[in-house]
Amino acid sequence: MTPEQQSLTGTDPTSGPPPGCPAHGLGPGGLHRLYGPDAENLDDLYERLREEHGPVAPVLLHDDVPMWVVLGHAENLHLVRSPSQYCRDSRIWTPLQEGMVKPDHPLMPHIAWQPICSHAEGDEHQRLRAAVTGAMSTIDHRSMRRHIGRHTQELVNAFCERGRADLVPQFAEHLPMAVMCEILGMPEEYNDRMVQAARDALKGTETAIESHGYVMDALSRLTTRRRARPDDDFTSHLITHPAGLSDDEVREHLRLVLFAAYEATANLLANALRMVLTEPGFRAQLNGGQMTVPEAIEQSLWDEPPFSTVFGYFAKQDAELGGQRIRKGDGLLFAPAPGNVDPRVRPDLSANMQGNRSHLAFGGGPHECPGQDIGRAIADVGVDALLTRLSDIRLDCPEEDLRWRSSIASRHLVALPVRFEPKPQQDVGLPPSASAVPPQRSTWQVGTAHTDPAPAPGPRPVAPPPVPVDPAPAAEPARRETLWHRLLRWWRGD
Ligand code: HEM
Repeated sequence: MTPEQQSLTGTDPTSGPPPGCPAHGLGPGGLHRLYGPDAENLDDLYERLREEHGPVAPVLLHDDVPMWVVLGHAENLHLVRSPSQYCRDSRIWTPLQEGMVKPDHPLMPHIAWQPICSHAEGDEHQRLRAAVTGAMSTIDHRSMRRHIGRHTQELVNAFCERGRADLVPQFAEHLPMAVMCEILGMPEEYNDRMVQAARDALKGTETAIESHGYVMDALSRLTTRRRARPDDDFTSHLITHPAGLSDDEVREHLRLVLFAAYEATANLLANALRMVLTEPGFRAQLNGGQMTVPEAIEQSLWDEPPFSTVFGYFAKQDAELGGQRIRKGDGLLFAPAPGNVDPRVRPDLSANMQGNRSHLAFGGGPHECPGQDIGRAIADVGVDALLTRLSDIRLDCPEEDLRWRSSIASRHLVALPVRFEPKPQQDVGLPPSASAVPPQRSTWQVGTAHTDPAPAPGPRPVAPPPVPVDPAPAAEPARRETLWHRLLRWWRGD
């Protein structure tokens, strides 16, 4: 089938094997399904699609609803950066208009249009996004980094004496929620129940509606409180922004920000920690100073973007993309996972990307993620502080036993069991340090304090900094000076 011969919405459903055909598992029109047995390993499927169709491939969503998946790096960028050709308003999607998408479609939470900035276009998008980015610009990044450090210390304190933990439920899922509750202005709402509710709502289990309601109740209370008496937090700045958001719009955007931040950053933390624990080359590069923690996070954003695909973009007119004829009303999946491994930009997937930020994990164009610096800060500070505290951390199960929960939108590590020598708790107000009890030689050198005792409380921190070692080899005195300056910068929240 040549690209010119096919059109997604023009596919004749009777021309291919019948649905569920066991011969090759293809759906109507001979198209691959992004669900069911054909899609057990989506990464493999994307590569097969790339071979068969090139950088843009026709596929089927649940109920055999047609869609394009964009596999090329350049084509994904073109998609998100061409608002005159493609928009995020699902109401123009032909299968939706023609009734092919049933109300109980599993992707309906992503498909249904909502009055939020991620679905809006043009002036309305600018109005809503201006309120979000305006409120974000008031966040003090120094104090945010201090909050992240403090919450990391608290989370590690909760399990450090036991010598084992599961880093997904006990760390990766908690840290973003704790930080976001603080940023939004509702630190008192952060607890186990809030984390469970967000996880449950996003998983779409039977209790998802109740869990979603629990989160929305907290956000409604916060909106009412801040409307009556604004404070200096994200929610107050969202409410008082000249864009004039209604209470409903405020609540919807708080929900968008909280869920986007929670899900994406929890995935990023778990993925980055998994890479450090299971890939010897990765850890050796960190230990040897050839890679810093922020570079490791960036590498993880290339290799395992927290959102594998984003539903969706829709053609406003007939167009051509990656050699395919796109018809007005066609839907396209923006796809960071296959886009980031496009052989045209990454011929050698094992190569260290050295902090290169041109991956697709945060999208691009008018809808590019406005919270990326917050996501990166949570991951950088959280991973660095955790590894500094638990310098002898190692995986507590065979790597093959690790399990993921996958959907078209993301791949979420279910558990990441780890072991380490039990450590004493630390003062959460101080920078993390490697523990001196029990004495041992640390293999983790990002925080270089592994032979020093924990710092005594005082006005000036004496522990060495939880920062990456210099990538370039340097003379010892100069390096010490750099580390000290870095410590001061970290402590000030720079
Ligand atoms: C590692 C963490 C994160 C990743 C990987 C991520 C990724 C993304 C992606 C892929 C998009 C869609 C871009 C597009 O449609 O082209 C997006 C949009 C968005 N993200 Fe993030 N995100 C992260 C963290 C955050 C955080 C921490 C916040 C808020 C504090 C946030 C708020 C948003 C919002 C409001 C949008 C919608 C923007 C718009 O449509 O104009 N994200 N994000």
